[in-house]
Amino acid sequence: MPSQQTPQHDPFDLTALGQSLAGTPFAENLSFLPTIHSTNVLAMQQADAGAPHGLVCFADEQTAGRGRGAHAWQSPPGSGLYVSVLLRPSIAPADVLWLSLAAGLAVRDAVRQVTALEADLRWPNDLLFGPKKFCGILTELNAEVTRVRHVVVGVGINVHQEYFPEELSSQATSLYLETGKHWSRQEILVALLNSLYRETLALESSSGLASATQSILGRLEHSSTWVRGKRVHVDEAGGYSGVTAGLDPRGFLLVETADGLRTVLSGGVRELRDPALE
Ligand code: BTN
Repeated sequence: MPSQQTPQHDPFDLTALGQSLAGTPFAENLSFLPTIHSTNVLAMQQADAGAPHGLVCFADEQTAGRGRGAHAWQSPPGSGLYVSVLLRPSIAPADVLWLSLAAGLAVRDAVRQVTALEADLRWPNDLLFGPKKFCGILTELNAEVTRVRHVVVGVGINVHQEYFPEELSSQATSLYLETGKHWSRQEILVALLNSLYRETLALESSSGLASATQSILGRLEHSSTWVRGKRVHVDEAGGYSGVTAGLDPRGFLLVETADGLRTVLSGGVRELRDPALE
């Protein structure tokens, strides 16, 4: 089977990166690994060992990239952006979903800044062009019931891939495949971290969580075709189908089913194109 990418010479310049991130907690906390099992695993380990808020672990290649659930994240060298950010936010564990939703908006914003492409957001935070996914986010949490110790937000973006193996090609895409251009991973990383910084400031701001979450809800309604009116199958609680009906006040997706309104807690949501499949 062919490799799913064509490696590009797209190096990172750590000095320039630090300069572009001046004024954020990330500027002095950049850790680049040419190859690593998983930047999320590394960032969680570093967090346990006392690493500071703002640590950014990013890699050219992951040998055991992790996705949500039990999935893997294909992370071949020179192809994607693989980055994990350690945050020690002053928010309650119950509000960490907002951070995860905001991370999706931050990636969307970064991709638009760099490429002018408008991505779709699939709850909670997959990024797609049409039916094909190009970015996934894995948010991992270490918390007591009432106190967040740390959160790691891990982002994988398909940047340079020129093709995918047959079994993935109907579901996966890359920024290259969408535009025919090889975008700089560094530029995307700078835009992403600056955007994520703004999102975290808003969530922790003294004007209150409520205004930040209202803003997140509004932007999701505006930038996602998945929040309302989409026929979906939800892969949890034995699986069920229905039509998406907005987000609840905690940020969870609602689905109107034949048995009433249900709240999607974790599950994979996929579009049901043919009602006969239900
Ligand atoms: C998903 O959609 O399943 C989430 C994928 C998250 C992948 C990123 S790549 C950087 C970070 N390190 C990991 O091992 N996973 C996340």
